[in-house]
Amino acid sequence: MSLEFNHIPVMSEEIDRILTPYKSGLYVDCTFGGGGITKKILSKKNTKVLSLDRDNFVEPFSKVISKQYNKRFEFINDKFSNLQNILSERNFQKTPVAIIFDLGLSSFQIDNPEGGFSYRQDGLLKMTMGKNNISAHDIVNKLDQKNLKNIFNLFGEDKDSGLIAKLIVQKRQDKQITSTQELVEIILKAKRYKNNKYNKVDSCAKIFQSIRMIVNKELTELYEGLIFGIKNLSIDGKIIVITFHSLEDKLVKKVFDFFSNKKKGTSRYLPENNQNENFNILNIVSRKPVVASEKEEYDAEFEIIGVEEGKGKLAGKVGKLVFNGFDSAVNGSHEYLEELWLNRDSLIGKKATIKYFNLTPDGIPRFLKVVAIRDYE
Ligand SMILES: C[S@@+](CC[C@H](N)C(=O)[O-])C[C@H]1O[C@@H](n2cnc3c(N)ncnc32)[C@H](O)[C@@H]1O
Repeated sequence: MSLEFNHIPVMSEEIDRILTPYKSGLYVDCTFGGGGITKKILSKKNTKVLSLDRDNFVEPFSKVISKQYNKRFEFINDKFSNLQNILSERNFQKTPVAIIFDLGLSSFQIDNPEGGFSYRQDGLLKMTMGKNNISAHDIVNKLDQKNLKNIFNLFGEDKDSGLIAKLIVQKRQDKQITSTQELVEIILKAKRYKNNKYNKVDSCAKIFQSIRMIVNKELTELYEGLIFGIKNLSIDGKIIVITFHSLEDKLVKKVFDFFSNKKKGTSRYLPENNQNENFNILNIVSRKPVVASEKEEYDAEFEIIGVEEGKGKLAGKVGKLVFNGFDSAVNGSHEYLEELWLNRDSLIGKKATIKYFNLTPDGIPRFLKVVAIRDYE
């Protein structure tokens, strides 16, 4: 479990480029997480940031920022679908000059086995980001087969959705499905049964994602957050959305098109075309989304829970360190790795700083590298 977080958020350089030159005024960071984007904005003069996050787990990070920036920063533990109320109730004098959504989960949420978000760790089926009415346990144990199939189909785009739903319903006739690993077993059973050439990561990540989207009503949240954001933005203000998957991406494009001079698709999901209201509010800066560059990196500290010996030339030396849910190769000279192996028992429980690059859709870090190991204070 990460104890500290020096999070360089995904696409922070791109966000910085879009916001430069930074105007003075109010910025709303709708997805505070580890506070990376908030901190970047606060580092510029004459900015104020109102940050939201539905997960109260992030509050300690907000307190650290609060100490440093005092009156220029406020954190509210709420969902961004509530943005309209938050802005009006708090009587924020100024309309925001920018509103930012960095969608998805933070590494804290993924790495915490108690969250039940990751198929790579065993945990109770939860997947709640905060302020939820239902959990993954409810979805998996209470919905009927048809609804389960639809969810896996629509939000997970899994071609074996029907069989997975059927096996879930069969299994829960014996006993409730309570853990992430029970669900993983069912998904893989369905894949084996179909004798598909399946990829464990893809299969599980998509089904888990589809359940998570329902538990947290993620598309509804996004839709409402965007509409309230757009309506409250100052003239010449900027709205930035970092999406994680194609369903979010499509929704953002539809809403942006609707509020811009682009063609207005008549969708029953968009606001009613009221003659008195001006929907021509946005100017879409570029049709092509900006995509993440490979060199984005995260920097976080994790607790070491295991040590693995290297293979081949690395025998007798530390090869990998094991953390909750993932492992990582250690960098360094052979002498250093040998010394680590000799002292392997004392490594358990220490903190390791890890650099890692872009996350996969289920948040598994890619290109991991341990850069430092130290004791707990
Ligand atoms: C990818 S992380 C954001 C990382 C952040 N930009 C940073 O720099 O550390 C997404 C965060 O948004 C939060 N979140 C997701 N949906 C939300 C919603 N509807 N309302 C408020 N917060 C939400 C999650 O709890 C999570 O902490």
